[in-house]
Amino acid sequence: MDTVRKAVFPVAGLGTRFLPATKAMPKEMLTIVDRPLIQYVVEEAKAAGIEEFIFVTGRGKSSLEDHFDMAYELEDTLSKRDKVQQLEDLHAWLPDAGHVIYTRQQAPLGLGHAVWCARHIVGNEPFAVLLPDELVLSDTPCLKQMMGVYAQVGGNVLATMDVPKDQTNRYGILAIAKDDGRKVEVTGLVEKPDPSDAPSNLSITGRYILQPEVFGHLSKKERGAGNEIQLTDAMAKMIGSHPFHGYRFDGERHDCGHALGFLKANMAFALQRDELAADLKEFLKDL
Ligand code: G1P
Repeated sequence: MDTVRKAVFPVAGLGTRFLPATKAMPKEMLTIVDRPLIQYVVEEAKAAGIEEFIFVTGRGKSSLEDHFDMAYELEDTLSKRDKVQQLEDLHAWLPDAGHVIYTRQQAPLGLGHAVWCARHIVGNEPFAVLLPDELVLSDTPCLKQMMGVYAQVGGNVLATMDVPKDQTNRYGILAIAKDDGRKVEVTGLVEKPDPSDAPSNLSITGRYILQPEVFGHLSKKERGAGNEIQLTDAMAKMIGSHPFHGYRFDGERHDCGHALGFLKANMAFALQRDELAADLKEFLKDL
């Protein structure tokens, strides 16, 4: 079984749900406690053994590139002030030189199209996809849990979670056969079905391990839900030719793509931090 070494981060979205915050700043740079969303997912990928980080980016997103580069003036100043710990903290999560790769999605044609834009960089090997507006709070990083499942069953593995039936039209939804409580066998995938048409209430969370054959299906550029080129539709075409599983991960999913979810994520992640938790709890109680 081929090792998953590469991860694709679709980061070209306009972030219209966060205007005006995202007028001049990428939504992936919005901050949960003290680090941007994109850093959480890159760290998650790194913890899962990913070696190559592929950003599918777009116009106005250059601060993402700066974030994963050395900041010479800052580091020079910290060094002159003997801020050794701060310097170490800045370096700890940086991928090695030459391991972050950027390409652009030239038009907003959907998630499937964004992933397809990375096809030449991924090549003919399995890869991960991580959507930065979803964070998972867990002991073992979500993608690492999925790597464990992939090591057993290979093929395609999707992070999944149960959602209320009336929310199926917000997600990709799985049709399933076997279900052992954690791992489910996928027999179908539908993007954002109405609750009345949804084959289950198991949704796709923004973490995927995929076989490169998905690029062939994406290259047909067929339009799906919302008239977009959907990753879900291309994945569905691999069912039957590759093992295909969903995995109910251990952890708490936070949808940071809208204001309420983003605020809740800030609270949840801050409450995990020893230096913040007690005072924050106090404040929340008073509030
Ligand atoms: C995308 C996918 C969907 C998935 C969701 C998870 O939708 O198309 O299948 O369930 O991410 O957040 P989006 O949120 O981009 O509309």
